[in-house]
Amino acid sequence: RCVKTGSDRKPENERTLLDNASNLLTNLLSGGNMGTMPIAEGAVSDLFGRPLFFALYDWFMQHGPVYKLAFGPKAFVVVSDPVVARHILRENAFAYDKGVLADILEPIMGKGLIPADLETWKVRRRAIVPGFHAAYLEAMVQVFDNCAERTVEKFEKLLDSAQQEGKSEIEMEMESEYSNLALDIIGLSVFNYDFGSVTRESPVIAAVYGTLSEAEHRSTFYIPYWKFPLSRWLVPRQRKFHEDLKVINDCLDDLIKRAQATRQETDVEALQQRDLTTAQDSSLLRFLVDMRGEDATNKQLRDDLMTMLIAGHETTAAVLTWATYYLAQNPDMIAKAQAEIDSVLRGRRPTLEDVKKLQYVKLIVAESLRLFPQPPLLIRRSLKPDTLPGGHKGDPNGYSIPKGVDLFISVYNLHRSPYFWDEPEKFNPERFLKAKPSDGIEKWAGFDPTRGQGALYPNEVMADFAFLPFGGGPRKCVGDQFALMESTVALAMLLQKFDVKLRGSPDEVELVTGATIHTKNGLWCKLSRRKSITNLN
Ligand code: HEM
Repeated sequence: RCVKTGSDRKPENERTLLDNASNLLTNLLSGGNMGTMPIAEGAVSDLFGRPLFFALYDWFMQHGPVYKLAFGPKAFVVVSDPVVARHILRENAFAYDKGVLADILEPIMGKGLIPADLETWKVRRRAIVPGFHAAYLEAMVQVFDNCAERTVEKFEKLLDSAQQEGKSEIEMEMESEYSNLALDIIGLSVFNYDFGSVTRESPVIAAVYGTLSEAEHRSTFYIPYWKFPLSRWLVPRQRKFHEDLKVINDCLDDLIKRAQATRQETDVEALQQRDLTTAQDSSLLRFLVDMRGEDATNKQLRDDLMTMLIAGHETTAAVLTWATYYLAQNPDMIAKAQAEIDSVLRGRRPTLEDVKKLQYVKLIVAESLRLFPQPPLLIRRSLKPDTLPGGHKGDPNGYSIPKGVDLFISVYNLHRSPYFWDEPEKFNPERFLKAKPSDGIEKWAGFDPTRGQGALYPNEVMADFAFLPFGGGPRKCVGDQFALMESTVALAMLLQKFDVKLRGSPDEVELVTGATIHTKNGLWCKLSRRKSITNLN
């Protein structure tokens, strides 16, 4: 792998007695009712010191695409097969809910779309999806441009200062820069609030980062310590979390009140036809408040906004980070992207029409999502008994799943599966241009050109669920096109002006994971002004 995985397994004789006892106990507790499903024999210690999804990949190679993993007091079924993933996410989607994920996120997102119970989810999904209409996305490209321009200006100023000291490059920690950029974009586009985090610090920004870090901490913890009585008052990190939450909630409540004070009730079609490119407030909040028949409580609106703030911030920042990680090692790819950017943009800022034409940059975004899917695992819990389909390499008859089983769909495994991708570890944006061979699915390295026509980016339908960057079925991401365009615009505007290379070796970039995959110590890069601008004449 290109980044340090620490994936060396401990030799058998080094495993502790405790590990073995724990394995025995958990396998006994979880065994029995899932037929012949293989059981991963990993020790609990395999999970320490490296992200969980690396271990899940090793076990996928050993045990096949559907196996049971038992650790601690819990057992999980791990799925790495597109046919089985499609069944759980699309064909029998309502037989599953978000399980552990909802437990973790509910205290932060309340009844927002991600953790919401089915009844609430149906109502809110129906209200929110129309908000991401074509005119909204078109107007958002301007927001992406404005925010990316702030980052460009910041780098240009720093390069000017460096130049005065005789230097031609600056060292930047790009992960934080992308995080600030994505926060500014999500604030303006979802609730018309300018965090201004590229250029300043504020208590609200600090609170957002505090809350995100707690959400991440919870997602890596198997005991719900935040549910312990009095923990809110006694545990300092819990106290801080509730303080942070209050700062954000107060800010969101205020924005909701202001939007309601200027409410102009209209039906959905009229809202979708408004000219948002000149509107003062083109945010999703404006849409949700103005929509006729929309009777969500303020608490529900706040939960929706909080969910989108969290779902749309770190994910996009991570895509940009990993795209840059690969580009910074591949000057030829940078040159190719820059030639495309110059010929499409001719020095301008991108419009929606330009985004459609930035074919190579879009493939870079898709390929980053393939190698580093955000989140790397989708989490589900069965609400009733189900029978999984016989997957491509799994049990031909399908495994039976009792009610209450926790499942991980490993998108990371699907996206790096040697069964479906040629050279799965290699960053190769153009792999998406290759059509799927007609002779079956044994090597599914390409896309079926007859499906998903008109899509701007490679998607799960074209790949028949072997590529799942935004999930699939009814719970698929509502912000997929938004996020893809945002990432394309940001990359295009940065590459239009700058060359980038890694400060050190790629192996020094260690990764950690919570909800998203990010670097342990930042993505340090060297940035310089572009040496050559493509001759357009
Ligand atoms: C759901 C990925 C950006 C809002 C999801 C899911 C994935 C995903 C994989 C499905 C989760 C599951 O099935 O358990 C991403 C990635 C993004 C991104 C990789 C950026 C590159 C955004 C943005 C927004 C957003 C920008 C909003 C502005 C949501 C919401 C859901 C969701 C509300 C829950 C949908 C539902 O359950 O109905 N996202 N997302 N996401 N995403 Fe995104």
